[in-house]
Amino acid sequence: MTQSRSEAITFPTGRPGPFDPPERLASLREERPIARLAYPDGRIGWLVTGHSAVRAILADPRFSSRRELLNIPVPFPLMQEMRGPAEPGMFIRMDPPDHTRYRKPLTAQFTVRRMKGLEPRIREITRERLDAMEKAGPPLDLVSEFALPIPSLVICELLGVPYADRDEFQHATSALLNLESSPEEIRTALAGIASFFARLIALKRADPTDDLLGGLIEDGELTDEELRNVGFLLLAAGHETTANMLGLGTFALLEHPDQLATLRADPSLIDNAVEELLRFLSVIHIGPTRAALEDVEVEGELIRAGEVVALSVPGANRDPSRFPDPDRLDVTRSASGHLTFGHGLHQCLGQQLARVEMRIAFPMLFDRFPGLRLAVPAEQVAMRDTMSIYGVRALPVAW
Ligand code: HEM
Repeated sequence: MTQSRSEAITFPTGRPGPFDPPERLASLREERPIARLAYPDGRIGWLVTGHSAVRAILADPRFSSRRELLNIPVPFPLMQEMRGPAEPGMFIRMDPPDHTRYRKPLTAQFTVRRMKGLEPRIREITRERLDAMEKAGPPLDLVSEFALPIPSLVICELLGVPYADRDEFQHATSALLNLESSPEEIRTALAGIASFFARLIALKRADPTDDLLGGLIEDGELTDEELRNVGFLLLAAGHETTANMLGLGTFALLEHPDQLATLRADPSLIDNAVEELLRFLSVIHIGPTRAALEDVEVEGELIRAGEVVALSVPGANRDPSRFPDPDRLDVTRSASGHLTFGHGLHQCLGQQLARVEMRIAFPMLFDRFPGLRLAVPAEQVAMRDTMSIYGVRALPVAW
């Protein structure tokens, strides 16, 4: 029976521990995997927690990603500000044919050859961070010294940001990622990044390079404004997500010493371990969201045209009908089929790069510091539960 609008719930928050999603998601998934949800602006939409329904909606072109149709299920000021149609190039919030026009040339740039070519650089970047940590000595914050800089420097490599400009790039992006930044500081940071990309593109137009931005310029399909926004999208989509996986993933391994020992005893498990951490931690803990373009029936519920649907990745990834014993971190299991990179048309474009970063960074960290441990009791580690990407705010470690 379809739930009445007056029975709508609010988006579940409040986690029982640092690694487990809100318990309400599990009871919802059991009772009502497609449930009525009240959005902060008073509109009523849906929250989907079952794996099969989340996957089906992500694969269904009758559900739109257009930003002007979407609604955010939680009252985050920065996310609430991003309203209206997506800027040219921000194809994550577009439908075909606009989405296709950007995604196609971008996919052509994310080649196996380019990803392979980045591996030695990712190793070098990781080694440099580990050297810096060793030099600074314990205790230190693993987030600011390791988890944040690695993805940032890797995106510099991918885009082809010259060495001399990397400090400026990191400075501009750190204000964006800093939780303490005021809306004013965020606006300033956004303007700084836009002018940074504008200069970078001008430089590459004058002096062509063999990196991703250089390749897109050579294609000649995109305007400067589109290139700027594509650069910003790659930064926004790739930096914070990977950084939180590195920070929260390290915390999870330290708090599950049996799993860490299993992984260290058999390094060939790293690919499995990375997939399992992606599944278990589900750092994309709010969205993705979609809007129905017409009336659609999904698993017995009628979703009306115009209604917004929030798809719970933690709900789907902990669904016992898809993953046996889902609340257990098990680095030996095959976690393929998790939805942390999404599914369908918008499935993460940078997933291979993110995987390579994690497959390199975790083992190098634990090889360099076999005695790595938390420098504070686990309960004192501050979590990012009110941010769009879940993770740790800081991770004080010693060795
Ligand atoms: C662990 C790290 C990452 C996670 C968990 C993640 C997750 C996701 C998810 C869930 C989506 C789909 C959003 C939707 O359907 O609305 C997505 C899209 C996207 N991601 Fe990632 N991502 C990660 C790393 C990266 C990296 C490293 C890059 C690039 C350097 C990247 C670039 C993108 C882009 C461009 C899109 C939009 C694709 C489209 O709309 O067609 N991501 N990502």
